[in-house]
Formats: sequence, structure tokens, C-alpha cells
Amino acid sequence: KNRGIPLKANLSSCHPSYPSGDQIGSCCPTPAWSELEIIDFQFPDPSSPIRVRRAAHLVDEEYKAKYEKAVAIMKELPLDHPHNFWRQADLHCIYCTGAFDQVNSTAPFKTHHSWLFFPWHRALLYFHERILGKLIGDDNFALTFWSWDHPDGMHFPTMFTKGVLNDTERDAIRLPTVVDFNYHEDRGLTDGELVLDNLALMYHHMVSGAKKAELFMGCKLRSGVDGDCDSGGTIEESPHNPMHGWVGDRNNPVKEDMGAFHSAGRDPVLYAHHSNIDRMWATWQKMRNNELEFDNEEWLNSEFTFFDENLQFVRIRVRDVLNMSKLRIDYQDIGLPWLDTRP
Ligand code: C2O
Repeated sequence: KNRGIPLKANLSSCHPSYPSGDQIGSCCPTPAWSELEIIDFQFPDPSSPIRVRRAAHLVDEEYKAKYEKAVAIMKELPLDHPHNFWRQADLHCIYCTGAFDQVNSTAPFKTHHSWLFFPWHRALLYFHERILGKLIGDDNFALTFWSWDHPDGMHFPTMFTKGVLNDTERDAIRLPTVVDFNYHEDRGLTDGELVLDNLALMYHHMVSGAKKAELFMGCKLRSGVDGDCDSGGTIEESPHNPMHGWVGDRNNPVKEDMGAFHSAGRDPVLYAHHSNIDRMWATWQKMRNNELEFDNEEWLNSEFTFFDENLQFVRIRVRDVLNMSKLRIDYQDIGLPWLDTRP
């Protein structure tokens, strides 16, 4: 048995994979990743400026214009260019629907519903952000976060409803209302009720119900074993999951785009949603004085591959993404109103 081995995708095993619904999806990368040379991740220069991600409801017009310009360029790159917007979108499909098997196993390599969730998505944002910056020649470019945990950010961010940041595959009926962290179907609550409900859930999923790493990070995924770990941490379960379904179009088979793994990356708001997910991880890490989540080599050495902004194909490990300041990333401080909302 392969117990105790870090999680790693077998890059020559790409195959069509099943999204969470009933449609088969294919997002195998071109050029085939198995044919590429892989280099080890290097931290950015420690003296390089920190990229500070700001709240989507607070950014100015200049920032929005920059972001739009970067995404517009991304969407116009040749379709087989790894920086092309749709190839970037496919990263989510590849890693989240099990397009690769694990090395030495037929178990799928997946980055949801387990302790790989936060690290993998942090890496995704890290590279996506640097690519966007590179495309517009701005080394300080930072993503923006959808601050759904703050009453001022609990509506769909309007900057993502225009131009290249818009996506037609969203739920037009829900979009103008306050988000619902318990969303499965519409609950008929007023906006005021939803705000209180959301804040209470945040407190529970960040504080009272997240006292141990296993609770916050999700179950321990062992290599070569399929199916014994399939539950995310508190924040992944909610608000993360319900918000995907809340944004996606109810008229599509599996609520594409945001509602399904294979399509979520086609909606630019994915990156703002996940920046806030990542901000919650960073917040939780800070609240426990950055104590290491799991002193466990399987986890720390689990690895993912991404294209960086210089088109190098990079191997990045869980241990590489644990420290935000080494990655030269930070989040704007907008307060944490849920901290005072003990239910
Ligand atoms: Cu990989 Cu929000 O999902």
C-alpha cells in the first residue's frame, strides 16, 4: 500500500473526468503536461513589494480598468497558450474533477473536500495573479477579494457584472440579493435576516467550530486511497460550496459556470471568491499564531504544477504556500464583523 506518500498527480494519466453533475468533461491540458520540463518553485524576492489584495467593493476605477485590461488580454491570447483565460479556467477543471490519477494509483487526484483545498487554491491564485500582472506590465498587480463575510460585501460585486469580468452563466434572479451562506434553495429570508445568519455562520465556521486543524482544513487525504476522505473543512463546506451554487445559473444542468468544478474558472468572479476564501485561511492562521496546520510530510510535500508568469512549468508544494509573506501577498484590513457575532 502507498500509505504515507505525498499526493502527486500522474501527469501522463489525463482523461476526461466527471464533474459533480452528470456530464463528462474534458480539460486535459495542451501542450500535454507530461511532456514538459518541470522546475521547482522559487519564492519571490523577499524585497519585492507585497501585493495587497483589496476588497472588490472598495477598489477604485483605476484598479478596475487595470483588471479589465489584464483579463481582456488573457481572453485574446491564442487558445493553446497556457496564460489564455480558458486554459486558466481549465486548471480548476483539471485539478478539481479528477482529470489526473495519482502517481502509482488509479485514485483520482483532486483538490476539493480535503486538506489540499486551501493550499491548492492559494497556489492557483498566486500564479493567476502574477500572470495578470505580467500581461499588463504591472509587478504590483493584486487580485481583489469578494468580501462576502462583511455586510458591505454581501452583494455580488458589481465590478464583475461588466465587460470582460462579466459572465452570462450566472443566476440573474439571485444576483441582486444578499448572498446566502446556507443556500441550497431560496429560503425566502429578508436581506437583514440573511446578513445576521451569514455573520453567525462565519463565527461558527471560523471560531467556535474550527478550533482544530482537522475541522478547518478538512480530512486528511492519503495517497492511493480513493474515497476514505471526502469532506472539506468548515469554510469549504460553507460559505464556499453554497456560494458556488448561489452564483451559477439555475437553468444550466449543473449550475454552470460557478456551480460546477469543470466550469467555475470560466467566471472571473471565481478568483475574487477564492481570494476571500484564502483571506479566511490567512485570518484563521493568524488567529492561531501561525501554528503549523499539520506537521505531516505527506501533506507538506504534496505537490501541484502550474505555469508561472514566465511560462515556466513549476512544481509547488503545500509547504511553499503556508506563509503569505514569503509569497509577498497580503489582504487589505477591512475588519471582521463576524468576530463580534457570537450566535
Ligand atoms: Cu475549486 Cu471554489 O472551488
